[in-house]
Amino acid sequence: MTEVIAHRGYSAKFPENTMIAFHEAEYANADGIELDVQLSKDGEVVVIHDEKLNRTTSGKGYVKDFTLQELKKLDAGVLFPNLSEKQTIPTLEEVFAWLATNTLICNVELKNGVFRYEGMEEKVIKLIRQYDLSKRTIISSFNHYSIVHCYRLAPEVEIAPLLSEGLYMPWIYAASIRAKGFHPRYSAVPNEVISLSLESGIAVRPYTVNKEVEMERLFQINCTAFITDDPTIAVKLRDKYKK
Ligand code: G3P
Ligand code: MG
Repeated sequence: MTEVIAHRGYSAKFPENTMIAFHEAEYANADGIELDVQLSKDGEVVVIHDEKLNRTTSGKGYVKDFTLQELKKLDAGVLFPNLSEKQTIPTLEEVFAWLATNTLICNVELKNGVFRYEGMEEKVIKLIRQYDLSKRTIISSFNHYSIVHCYRLAPEVEIAPLLSEGLYMPWIYAASIRAKGFHPRYSAVPNEVISLSLESGIAVRPYTVNKEVEMERLFQINCTAFITDDPTIAVKLRDKYKK
């Protein structure tokens, strides 16, 4: 059955890439979570989407210019000001420590398209191994050099290229870089491409699927998974297809 992966956690209702958004994704019965990682000034792997702090936190400036201690002082819940619980920027280690207590899939997206974050791949792999999450983690990125580097470091961890446009025969491309799947923008992946990929043994996990009609299309063709901001809507629809 098509798996539901909560994009930045349950980001439709909770501050993206925070512990509450991850916990709520689990309560919503999502099969997994997607999160974005970058490096702090002192080389800690931190969970945040934008290169700048401005949109999602009380801080201003680039993530890479602040130490973990400085980043931890910021409010990471500014997009949902009515939440009573204060949220901070999590480290990947904090999220992994929690994941080790459940069975969720984790899609770690390396955000190293703008800044290279030298050494981030090694740090992410080390944490995956430390928390014994190799079998249920997928490392994705728009930076395909970076995921190939991850594969060389840890062939036991699945990699998946992110594709924002309609690449021709993406299942062949994915196999060529030893990826067992790819993560396309949902609007760039017609049913035929999904079916041919699945027939070739290549998983397809489109993002960011928030329209019910798109979710239904993916359930109907038994797509591997999809990444959504609202796991509650997705899980409810999935139950309909289960019957
Ligand atoms: O990993 C899928 C999706 O998260 C990619 O785009 O910008 O939301 O990180 P973005
Ligand atoms: Mg992402």
